[in-house]
Amino acid sequence: MGDSGEFVRVFDTTLRDGEQAARVNLNTGEKVQIARQLERLRVDIIEAGFPASSPGDFDAVRQVVAEVRPPIIAALARTKEQDITAAGEALAGAAHARIHIFLATSPIHMEYKLKMTKDEVLKEVGSAVKFARGIVRDVEFSAEDASRSEIDFLVEVFTLAIESGATTLNIPDTVGYAMPLEFGDFCGAIIKRVNKPGVTWSVHCHNDLGLGVANSLSAVRSGVRQVECTINGLGERAGNASMEEIVMSLRTRSDHFGADTRIDTTKFFSTSKLVSNLTGVLVQPNKAIVGVNAFAHEAGIHQHGMLCNRATYEIMTPESVGSPGTDLHLGKHSGRHAFNERVENLGYHMTTEQGERAFEYFKVLCDKKKEVSDGDIEAFLTDRIIDVIPERNYELKDFAVTVASGGKPTASITLVHKDQEITEAAVGNGPVDAAYKAILKILSFEPELAEFRIRSTSELADALGEAHVILRYKDIKAQGRGASTDIIEATIRAYIEAVNRLYHSAAAREVKI
Ligand code: KIV
Ligand code: ZN
Repeated sequence: MGDSGEFVRVFDTTLRDGEQAARVNLNTGEKVQIARQLERLRVDIIEAGFPASSPGDFDAVRQVVAEVRPPIIAALARTKEQDITAAGEALAGAAHARIHIFLATSPIHMEYKLKMTKDEVLKEVGSAVKFARGIVRDVEFSAEDASRSEIDFLVEVFTLAIESGATTLNIPDTVGYAMPLEFGDFCGAIIKRVNKPGVTWSVHCHNDLGLGVANSLSAVRSGVRQVECTINGLGERAGNASMEEIVMSLRTRSDHFGADTRIDTTKFFSTSKLVSNLTGVLVQPNKAIVGVNAFAHEAGIHQHGMLCNRATYEIMTPESVGSPGTDLHLGKHSGRHAFNERVENLGYHMTTEQGERAFEYFKVLCDKKKEVSDGDIEAFLTDRIIDVIPERNYELKDFAVTVASGGKPTASITLVHKDQEITEAAVGNGPVDAAYKAILKILSFEPELAEFRIRSTSELADALGEAHVILRYKDIKAQGRGASTDIIEATIRAYIEAVNRLYHSAAAREVKI
């Protein structure tokens, strides 16, 4: 697509709307990892967070601005001046900053949530957009719950937003209520009636009825030229429209859409795995584009067709989305170069110091197991290398777990806390239960175990065991991951990691533990 009018801008909101998903809790270092990969994927806009919502979000936006150079970095804000100011401050120094302001326009939101009249909403939009334009040149306005708003009112609101200085106008289907044909017509009618050339129309579709991608594509057919989406469709409730599905639809059926994106689609698979590993949200095997079965042909007739000509059953190639087909393995003869290349292909970005530590650990692992799979590498990178908690309150020093048939499992754990070793022992229903009870005796507070999962990093018998834990204390949640050739050690590491993150989040929110 040579003409820029034919390009659809990809606005990624994995770090903002995606991070709002239940049970997702990324720290700044993880957000930066994802942002770096989004940059390599060549998204047009990264929405890095909602700075006024928490000190953690503010810090993450600042860090993304400092370390990543995508074309545009956006930060979300309500219409309140303090939100807009926080967004502007967090974005300071960005090569191209965008403040993204939203206010609801549907009757139900205005009456029950905002308790505002139409006139008040109009006034608020005008002044908020003008205020933001005093800080940055690029302002986006979103009419939250647009798909359930009256079209006449929306036309008024968008016209005013443009006259006040907004250059991107977003039509969200906030609750995933729209139907594709209806939504396409709705967007087309708004664009025509507002009739302001030079602005970019955008959509932001949620997936409550599984139609987020279909609605986004229908809007593109009606002239929308920015799609807001997330990797793996992560997001509030049933999620947001999935970026990989929208982009591959536009790419595969450019004949139908007459539009394409600038995305390097060969990075989809690694980006999807990175986001899944860091968020702990698994990708369903049959997920379009990035599921492990997305290119698996099982039926004999299909396999026969594939052998004759791949196009019989493949509308796009696995290579085009970076799907490796099989897991690649490294071993003790693999050198630093091969290891670094693998790490990069998996979507991870190491500092020199992290790269050194990662290679050292890789060599230790090679002594323990013959082959090191991609899954193993991803597990130890996320557990041991890229986690960045400025201060760790507890470190695992030692553990011993005894399980005997007929007897109750017992665990003894030694943690280091403020340079002091503390050892406790406990009996439990199982070895993990015993270990967690022993840790709880050491802690000065009692977090609730909100989620616990263990899995193996590959199908090999000597694969690493990976544990994922979510702890809750008051209204603060924190995730922890652990990976080890010993699954009990992995579960203990995951728990301690979550404890350390709880401390960190609590301190940021000035909650006493
Ligand atoms: O779903 C929504 O309406 C949003 C807005 C903030 C764009 O996330
Ligand atoms: Zn949303």
